[in-house]
Amino acid sequence: MADERDPKLPDASTSRLQQLAVVGELAVGAAHEARNLLTAIVGFAQVARRRAHDPAYVAKQLERIERESRACVELLQRFLAPSRTGAAPLETVDVANVVDLVADSARSQFELQRLTLELDLDRALPHVHCSRDELTQVLLNLVSNALHATPVGGSITIATKRSGGALALSVTDTGPGVPAGLEEQIFEPFFTTKPIGQGTGLGLALCRTMLASVGGTIHVEAAPGHGATFVIRLPAEREDA
Ligand SMILES: Nc1ncnc2c1ncn2[C@@H]1O[C@H](COP(=O)(O)OP(=O)(O)OP(=O)(O)O)[C@@H](O)[C@H]1O
Ligand SMILES: [Mg+2]
Repeated sequence: MADERDPKLPDASTSRLQQLAVVGELAVGAAHEARNLLTAIVGFAQVARRRAHDPAYVAKQLERIERESRACVELLQRFLAPSRTGAAPLETVDVANVVDLVADSARSQFELQRLTLELDLDRALPHVHCSRDELTQVLLNLVSNALHATPVGGSITIATKRSGGALALSVTDTGPGVPAGLEEQIFEPFFTTKPIGQGTGLGLALCRTMLASVGGTIHVEAAPGHGATFVIRLPAEREDA
């Protein structure tokens, strides 16, 4: 199916100032997502150094470093492309594959923070029509937030299930949860409770924008007991398509 999203970059009729504003917005988004990928790369380098005596383990981490570095280069290429639409191509995506990739990307951070990652996936779900790279970025943002919120010994669960004509993808953590009354505000750009220099407050706003461009939604719920559950809904592709 063709990419039906509107290119974000204004055409020649828009003013230079408007063009700069759009490029600025795309640059901030690209920098935010590149930082997530670089955080994963640093994590793999750290765990590899701890087991430098184990060549097979080091080789595996190098493979992951290469994969994440390539993803980072691609992300920046897209931003620097002459059209600078910033939009990644849409494709048919198996959400379980994206979860597997993100689980692997975040592996070293789980190890370093002594947290457990649990997957509760329905692997027979219909596919979704979206950008694989953007869905990966969305999930990485949610996992990165959950890693930040969850104390040592806690766990994070990524789950998928059918939800009517949609597919629900959720990330649940055992952290303190989102304070009542802030459930909407946390999706606003620049809203952060992290100390200066640690958070931009752009992660969830970018997630919502990326999902909205393919008809998806995201909201937060209180997790049973303690913690937060972020739920993404994406329209499922027709199974006879
Ligand atoms: N899993 C979570 N548990 C509790 N609070 C959360 C969770 N995820 C997000 N939040 C709250 O939502 C705020 C906004 O999150 P968002 O991802 O947009 O920005 P950030 O994480 O603060 O900054 P950045 O994404 O640049 O690191 C966080 O600062 C935090 O207060
Ligand atoms: Mg964040």
